[in-house]
Amino acid sequence: MKTYLSHYELVEQTLNTYNFSGEPIELYEPVTYMLSLGGKRLRPVLVLMACELFDDNIEKALPAALAVEVFHNFTLVHDDIMDKADIRRGKPTVHKKWNETVAILSGDLMMIKAIDILCETKYHQIPELIRIFNKTAAEVCEGQQLDMNFEQQVKVSKADYINMITLKTAVLLGGSLKLGALIGGATHDDASHVYELGKNIGIAFQIQDDILDSFGDGSIVGKKIGGDISVNKKTLLLLELMESANEADHLLIKQALTETTIDKKIETILQLYKKYDVKEKAEETKKEYLKLAFAHLDALSISPERSESLRQTAIELMERMS
Ligand code: IPE
Ligand code: IPE
Ligand code: MG
Ligand code: MG
Ligand code: MG
Repeated sequence: MKTYLSHYELVEQTLNTYNFSGEPIELYEPVTYMLSLGGKRLRPVLVLMACELFDDNIEKALPAALAVEVFHNFTLVHDDIMDKADIRRGKPTVHKKWNETVAILSGDLMMIKAIDILCETKYHQIPELIRIFNKTAAEVCEGQQLDMNFEQQVKVSKADYINMITLKTAVLLGGSLKLGALIGGATHDDASHVYELGKNIGIAFQIQDDILDSFGDGSIVGKKIGGDISVNKKTLLLLELMESANEADHLLIKQALTETTIDKKIETILQLYKKYDVKEKAEETKKEYLKLAFAHLDALSISPERSESLRQTAIELMERMS
């Protein structure tokens, strides 16, 4: 996709101009390591695309774009400790390559650097940008805590799940788009549609992330397949399974959740996922949220041509492989 690729390249170029080195090296090296592992750079691309909806000059949105990417990478460093994940983007996670205290502290530093970079924006109301950013960041923490709580909680409803993923994942996509839109000069009405657009894309994006964690190709996803199953994540797949399983299979699920041989646990749950077509069910939900997203895209006070690349990006994200 032309726009995604050109914006992605602009993000990479700008990121390369930043120097995150310093001392002690245990604090700074993981920052450079994490940021150089790549990734889709989705959130910064969204900042630029949102700015472009309202203004052709997207350069002014670059600091905000980098800020959300650095913040996102911070959340991943801490998330990998919380989820006991050893691989990310096909490489060892920071807490595996170094150790947990290094991952905690270098993660904290990334959060601080993110705000610093955001403050470089040439905008008449920097405090407004910081408040949007901080509100989003606090909500991501709320979502992450709910996600952890749900690992231990037996009953989690689909509404609980949607609320949790809205907080841990979707608000950052919404926030990224809103920042870009405001920097591009959007009215507050348009900015709030853009936020809702991102939030609904984000919900669908996390559902796809859940699907990939169980059904993806490990060498493309860059994470261990079955990671969510191994820590009893209440993903949409597991909730769908619990809703559809017969009594005998419920017993199997219960046993699997306490199974200590991880490979056996993953195999049992994956078999049940296939038996009950949970992937197809999750895909239906994903499509519903994409539709909600498009309603907000259509409500914007701009010409449909201007929003075409965002629409295309949303569609392609739904089928992403990594
Ligand atoms: C991973 O985000 C965390 C989620 C919110 C699902 P991405 O899938 O955007 O990860 P990278 O940045 O491309 O590696
Ligand atoms: C990630 O959710 C959400 C945040 C990092 C805030 P996941 O735990 O599903 O993300 P991955 O699968 O590890 O990338
Ligand atoms: Mg997680
Ligand atoms: Mg994780
Ligand atoms: Mg995941």
